[in-house]
Amino acid sequence: MTRDEMDRRAALKAFVGLGLASGLADCTSAPEPGGAPAPTEQPPAADTTPPEEHEHPADGDVLVFAFGDKEGQVIAPSDVPLGGPQIFAYPADAGGGHVASDSRLDQVILVRMDPSSLTEETTARAVDGIVAYSAVCTHEGCDVSDWNEDGLRLVCPCHDSEFDPSDNGQATEGPATRRLAALPLKIVDGRMMAGGGFQGRIGFRRR
Ligand code: FES
Repeated sequence: MTRDEMDRRAALKAFVGLGLASGLADCTSAPEPGGAPAPTEQPPAADTTPPEEHEHPADGDVLVFAFGDKEGQVIAPSDVPLGGPQIFAYPADAGGGHVASDSRLDQVILVRMDPSSLTEETTARAVDGIVAYSAVCTHEGCDVSDWNEDGLRLVCPCHDSEFDPSDNGQATEGPATRRLAALPLKIVDGRMMAGGGFQGRIGFRRR
């Protein structure tokens, strides 16, 4: 194998990730017919991207209080009251060193519903009845900061759009016609965590 071929394989392995890379290692470490054994492959380098340069929220980010007395503290499931209202949160790297609070587009709302009230799609992203959505209204981008206690709806105070947290964040009242972006959740060591990134378009974004 030429040096260029070895370089291209190494670049491809770095791109597709460790799982596939281990399969490629089995191929590339075999001796060339009639040639010297290929050099031992090195494991891919660790991701050294600073946390503040990652997209948030992302799988494994802890969720911390965005405001109030507990601002910056990691949210536990017991902090989220059954039947609302919603809690505002920001994602943070799992070590707690960086809170992604620079952009409203990263802000999350958490609300706990009766698990039996959740639709199938919503249940797939929820933990213990707790669901999470982008805090940015899909009408014109205000914070979805109010709560309709009777109807169990998330409410945007700017033009009174309402969203159903039990049904995928669907818009049910007011001028907003598009659902809120949804965030998959998980609980690890008693801490609320993102199970991935937002699913759906955030707020007023066109894509
Ligand atoms: S910005 Fe939310 S209803 Fe208009």
